[in-house]
Amino acid sequence: MDYYGELCTKVYESGKSIAEGEELAFYLSHVTEGMKVLEPMCGNGRMLIPFMQRGINIEGFDISDEMLKVCVVKGNERGMEPRVFHQDMRHFNRQDNYDLIMIPFGSFSLLPEEIVPLCLRNLKESLRQGGKLLITAIIQQAADDCPEWKETNRLQDGKNTIIEYKRMTYDKDSRVLNSKLKYHLIHEGEVLKEELMDFPMRMYGVEECKDLLHKSGFVNVTVHEVLDGYGKGNPFHVFEGTI
Ligand SMILES: C[S@@+](CC[C@H](N)C(=O)[O-])C[C@H]1O[C@@H](n2cnc3c(N)ncnc32)[C@H](O)[C@@H]1O
Repeated sequence: MDYYGELCTKVYESGKSIAEGEELAFYLSHVTEGMKVLEPMCGNGRMLIPFMQRGINIEGFDISDEMLKVCVVKGNERGMEPRVFHQDMRHFNRQDNYDLIMIPFGSFSLLPEEIVPLCLRNLKESLRQGGKLLITAIIQQAADDCPEWKETNRLQDGKNTIIEYKRMTYDKDSRVLNSKLKYHLIHEGEVLKEELMDFPMRMYGVEECKDLLHKSGFVNVTVHEVLDGYGKGNPFHVFEGTI
């Protein structure tokens, strides 16, 4: 099983390379002069790179070497050296180090429920006094099952084609949308490489997510609904807490 492997990373980068518009503006609006920012689960640097381009002191980490590689190359192409490192959320803790920690784009929903309290505690300890956490969580919504593989993306990669297939089922009890992704690298009709990925997304209730932050010791917990965050009529929810 490849987690954000080579093919998945190429497809992700082809559609989600650089954050922009309302989403970028929302996260930038929380940065003030001299802040030290951390983006856990930064992936391909979709958010980290435009932050760096604005001179913001930011670093990030991720569990996928492929995603981090793309982030570094993208930064280098723009004359910058991204400060990113390989790390699992389960083990990250840098006491008293950051003014702002942000996890955009629902990456937080990828964390298995049983490790969430530990991760939040570690993030809290990594913030300086008065520091702030911002988390975009996927909010509970109607999710249709799609038990059969269905093509969801197709990308030309030189002489090859990468095809993404998806199937998903929603588990009401755990409130997890269990997606499976399959990537095929195809050359002249022949599958040269296959990647399979489990992609479980935990759907949260608004009060539930606020409660998680409270229980982890955050104060002034609020939720922002960014109405056109991902484009017209496409909102997202960001949970904010301070220490
Ligand atoms: C949907 S991508 C989002 C990347 C980036 N945050 C963005 O806004 O585009 C989710 C990222 O979370 C990373 N990830 C998932 N579980 C992780 C974990 N336990 N520790 C660190 N990174 C993780 C994946 O490797 C992937 O790059």
